[in-house]
Amino acid sequence: MSKHKRYTITAALPYTNGSVHIGHLAGVYIPADIYARYMRLKGKDVLFVCGSDEHGVPITIKAKKEGVTPQQVVDKYHNIIKTSFEDFGISFDNYSRTSDEIHHNTASEFFTKLYDNDKFIEQTTDQLYDADAKQFLADRFVVGTCPKCGNDESYGDQCEKCGTSHNATDLINPKSAITGNVPSLKSTKHWFLPLDKYSNFLKEWIVDGHKDDWKTNVYGQVKSWIDDGLKPRAVTRDLDWGIKVPIEGVDSKVLYVWFDAPIGYISATKQWAEQQNKDWEPYWKDEDTKLVHFIGKDNIVFHCIIFPAMLKAEGSYILPENVPANEFLNLEGKKLSTSKNWAVWLDQYLIDFPNKQDVLRYSLTSIAPETKDSDFTWGDFQTKNNSELVAIFGNFINRVTVLTHKYYEGIVPKSGEFTSIDLGTLSKLAELPLEVDLLIEKYKFRDAQTAMMSIARLGNKYLADEEPWKKMKTDPERVKTIMYVALQISTVLAIVSEPFLPFTNQKMSEMLNINNLSWSNLSSDCSKLMHEGHTINKAELLFEKIEDSQVELQTNKLEESKKLNELANEKPEPIKPLIEFDDFSKLDIRIGTILEASKMAKTKKLLILKVDMGMEVRQIVSGIAHCFKPEDIIGQKVCVLVNLETKKIKGVESNGMILMTELSEGNLDFISPSSLSVSNGKTVG
Ligand code: 2FM
Ligand code: ZN
Repeated sequence: MSKHKRYTITAALPYTNGSVHIGHLAGVYIPADIYARYMRLKGKDVLFVCGSDEHGVPITIKAKKEGVTPQQVVDKYHNIIKTSFEDFGISFDNYSRTSDEIHHNTASEFFTKLYDNDKFIEQTTDQLYDADAKQFLADRFVVGTCPKCGNDESYGDQCEKCGTSHNATDLINPKSAITGNVPSLKSTKHWFLPLDKYSNFLKEWIVDGHKDDWKTNVYGQVKSWIDDGLKPRAVTRDLDWGIKVPIEGVDSKVLYVWFDAPIGYISATKQWAEQQNKDWEPYWKDEDTKLVHFIGKDNIVFHCIIFPAMLKAEGSYILPENVPANEFLNLEGKKLSTSKNWAVWLDQYLIDFPNKQDVLRYSLTSIAPETKDSDFTWGDFQTKNNSELVAIFGNFINRVTVLTHKYYEGIVPKSGEFTSIDLGTLSKLAELPLEVDLLIEKYKFRDAQTAMMSIARLGNKYLADEEPWKKMKTDPERVKTIMYVALQISTVLAIVSEPFLPFTNQKMSEMLNINNLSWSNLSSDCSKLMHEGHTINKAELLFEKIEDSQVELQTNKLEESKKLNELANEKPEPIKPLIEFDDFSKLDIRIGTILEASKMAKTKKLLILKVDMGMEVRQIVSGIAHCFKPEDIIGQKVCVLVNLETKKIKGVESNGMILMTELSEGNLDFISPSSLSVSNGKTVG
């Protein structure tokens, strides 16, 4: 049993430079939401906070790309992201912004306290500089080879491949992300947090103290960084977008985004407390508060090393009890990518699948990347919906509610004596919530959801074995007991499913007419949750089948993205060796009009064309049948090389060559004149 009476649950503040996609949802926000909802259901004092991370280089880069100000970027995406979270039922108590005044004040005060207490090292050092862009190159403004793992796309502050954080000057072969220039060095003053001084504290707290309760992926990384030796990290930057460094006489420097962002959790708490007329401090300072950070694996170093060192340096805060970071989610076998539009965007999903938030929540939880990277496919999404939500969960609740109406006008019947099958089922029913409970406490949300589904499976099996629809004719008294037991199973399912399927749960609670039940109603005896005489409401379907055509639409969309990416990434063919002008003028290229076109038998690519060249009609064999239907090109104007020697192709004479352009591999188009008049145009250079 947990000793904590209060829960502060945080979910990583998303950068406000784009919408959120399924990777964000699966990795961070759904597990955090399940955890928060579950703790509330258990009657805990829960605070669940998040907000927009509005500073840092990603925002500046986006603003430059879109030709707008950083403020315009964050205003736009803050609203989009906030709405997506609300739409998917992510139940934050407060979704804040780091551009809010309360955050600027909180972060400045935090920095000032550390500064006043000599917790920083002040140092003037040579830093990477792009003279053309007139810009110091920190963080995502610089890319180079990671000194630890050799990844050649590491950012200045962190390598996303191995997760390590470093200083920009540690990069091998750095290049400016703004101009591509090799940076020069320029000296500048910054404030550094001496992480090396916190090494013993971190070792004791995490390496010795959390070996058994932290996830191995998190623990292992943290231990290896500490073992490698920690170094001082600059917590200020020469940038103009961010929170001004609160030191007198210091201009044009801001706090490092990873210094201010985690303090965002604290400001979000303060903002919420002000709105609720509560005291914020117990949520961050009382030992009986359990602080849990939900993040993706690329954020581990900041939440397990840098932020705890900051909290320790400040001195009055508690530390996280756990940081259950997830690995990454892929989409149809490939890394999710915003820039390549290889993603399922939440706002887009809801247009194609309105009111199906729970289906996505369910399918993402079932493949959550808890211990290793995992893969979302539309096929699996369809199967999870059709074979699990519709066929198991929905089917069970539908049978129970429909039969209760059919046999008893919606009123819970009086149960007779339980048989051994009833007793066995009820005892299993009491065990399953305990299983869910244990798994959620261990952050194993995938397994917890499976255990939740076992309640529906138990119900289906019970009905299938007991067959009330058959016994109704022979033993209606027994059917009362069967339906009574089935209704108890439905009630347990209605309590336990809430953290996983909140929208369905709402519908189901209305149908069963039970609104005030919580985890505390579950006990070792689950046979009296819904009493005889209680009336349930009209039966409604909870889930509907997802058709193949709906899945096809989504895979076609991805196919489209893939094609566009291939086009964008295609490397131009190397230029052939130079030729003389005289070589070129030997070519006689004229314009003609296709009069007839037919496929050459037994070939895939060949068309036999009759082309009107003005002075004569030529027969030309052309390898374009995979791109054009014969009937579609009649009347098409084409450029023809007319002095190419006559050739027999598969026994058919070809007298000239149609000139084509290749848009992408194998994808051909005509080179045709903009003028529609037929001419005997000649090659000119
Ligand atoms: O990786 C990200 O998207 C960061 N914006 C997460 C910040 S989490 C926190 F510390 F604010
Ligand atoms: Zn690396």
